[in-house]
Amino acid sequence: MLLRSGFYTGNAEVPLPMAKTKAQPNTAQINELLYQALETEIGGQAVYKQAIECAEQPDFKEEMQKYLSETEDHERILKEVFERVGLDPETDSPGRQVIKAKADSLVQAMQMALEGGGKSMAQLVAAESVVEAESKDHQNWELIGELAKQMDGDLSEALQEAYDQVEEEEDQHLYHTMGWARELWLDSLGLPAVIPPPEEEKNVTTMIGASRARQQREEML
Ligand SMILES: [Fe+2]
Ligand SMILES: [Fe+2]
Repeated sequence: MLLRSGFYTGNAEVPLPMAKTKAQPNTAQINELLYQALETEIGGQAVYKQAIECAEQPDFKEEMQKYLSETEDHERILKEVFERVGLDPETDSPGRQVIKAKADSLVQAMQMALEGGGKSMAQLVAAESVVEAESKDHQNWELIGELAKQMDGDLSEALQEAYDQVEEEEDQHLYHTMGWARELWLDSLGLPAVIPPPEEEKNVTTMIGASRARQQREEML
């Protein structure tokens, strides 16, 4: 017989696959995500400060300054979550060390570009470095949102409140900076570029929106 799952079996007694049960929270790993998320916001500030040093294009510089101040807010918002759920923001973890090392290496890469290639090269390295840092930041918050949705109680409430304040800004940080990296590169190649990038002009906050903005960029040249 053909079961609802689509598997064929000749034995009618084979039970249907069990309904999905609520996930068992892995507390140690939830804490690890929160420590990494906090360290990402702290390292992100160092990345933005260096990116501002590297920025030449005034609108790009202004965007980096705005994102730096939002990243400072995210650190504060996460520390409030730590307070509410009884976690110590100073607790170290091996994962946290990795996040710190990555932020340090992005700062170092931008300094190298400034010294070796001058400001126009450093600006491109800055845009790419922010995309790398924000990829992790964006994923942390996606996971925090998922936890808030799937769990109950005080932790879920604290995470949801933090997520609601931060989520849209994280979308902008990632998708808009991806746009900046592409358009600044095109401009440096001597090709027509849309500055500020379509993602920013259209205030993109989703991956689908980013792809749509990219498709419309030729009309914006
Ligand atoms: Fe953030
Ligand atoms: Fe961010």
